[in-house]
Amino acid sequence: MKTIFSGIQPSGTLTLGNYLGAMKHFVDLQEENNCYFCIVDEHAITVPQERLKLRENIKSLAALYIASGIDPKKSILFIQSEVPAHTQLGWILQSISYIGELERMTQFKDKSNGKEAVSSALLTYPPLMAADILLYKTDIVPVGDDQKQHLELTRDLAQRFNNRYNDIFTIPEIRVPKVGARIMSLQEPTKKMSKSDENLKASILMLDTDKQIEKKIKSAVTDSDGIVKFDKTNKPGISNLLTIHASCTGESVEDLERKYDGKGYGEFKQETANAVMATLRPIREKYEELMASDELDRLLDEGAEKANFVANKMLAKAKKAIGLGRVKKKR
Ligand code: TYM
Repeated sequence: MKTIFSGIQPSGTLTLGNYLGAMKHFVDLQEENNCYFCIVDEHAITVPQERLKLRENIKSLAALYIASGIDPKKSILFIQSEVPAHTQLGWILQSISYIGELERMTQFKDKSNGKEAVSSALLTYPPLMAADILLYKTDIVPVGDDQKQHLELTRDLAQRFNNRYNDIFTIPEIRVPKVGARIMSLQEPTKKMSKSDENLKASILMLDTDKQIEKKIKSAVTDSDGIVKFDKTNKPGISNLLTIHASCTGESVEDLERKYDGKGYGEFKQETANAVMATLRPIREKYEELMASDELDRLLDEGAEKANFVANKMLAKAKKAIGLGRVKKKR
């Protein structure tokens, strides 16, 4: 049995990219592993958030986790800010992070590019993410492709701490899905599908209605050669739809190429839309039920209690290793 940790930011309604790149795989992993899934609200405030909207997004993300199949009896589901050890270990890890390595993070560069007021937390986001992972002796971190660089830094920080102070942290491995690790925008298929895209046609949201899904897929940008074939460089739009279709149905991209050989984009797009609708519909229905019940609060309380228990032990070890506080004498 391995320990798994992953987190998602409550910074807007999740996209099909978040689902196919990350969440979907969490559900399979929980069957045989010790899993922690986190709503990383402290990461979300590294860019401005509207307070009531943030609260709503936190609850909504908890419901989406469960609606997608996370079973709180098997996995520990909790909110980051309800486990203070995350920011405390985050601070310790900031003290061994170099500004240069944080400035090199692609996500920092993208999010700060052209902005006048960039929060310092946007720069120190990766040591907090490392803390999330290292508190739980995590073996495997399932994420989409865009988190690879943060995971490499997490490994570096863990190794640096272990070498410098005491060998307390497990070095985590990254796990990226073979298909669906980077779902692209439907309108600019060379760019990642993102929650924050201003073009509403670019992303499918997990809570979109069937009608919205169908409309967005039908208006997805493709090309004019009419052949359903995977070719990321020359046919990024069709390749992205093939990936989405394959991830939703479990068929391989090669099988899909054969199935749509000689058929037009119209039929392929319609069936891709059907596959996405069939994937998201049951999640949306379960989500509505959960949002209307009191169950969520109870589950999140239980999750926070369990996570605090484990996280505080590791935090105490880290503080001891680095020399913070006092040695408490037994009275
Ligand atoms: P976040 O909230 O941006 O995304 C959550 C998960 O969704 C994946 N993802 C995608 N996968 C495929 N295609 C896409 N277009 C796509 N967009 C997003 C992300 O890779 C991620 O797995 N820093 C993290 C949150 C985090 C975290 C952690 C993750 C904080 N602490 C500890 C793992 C472990 C983030 O911003 O993810």
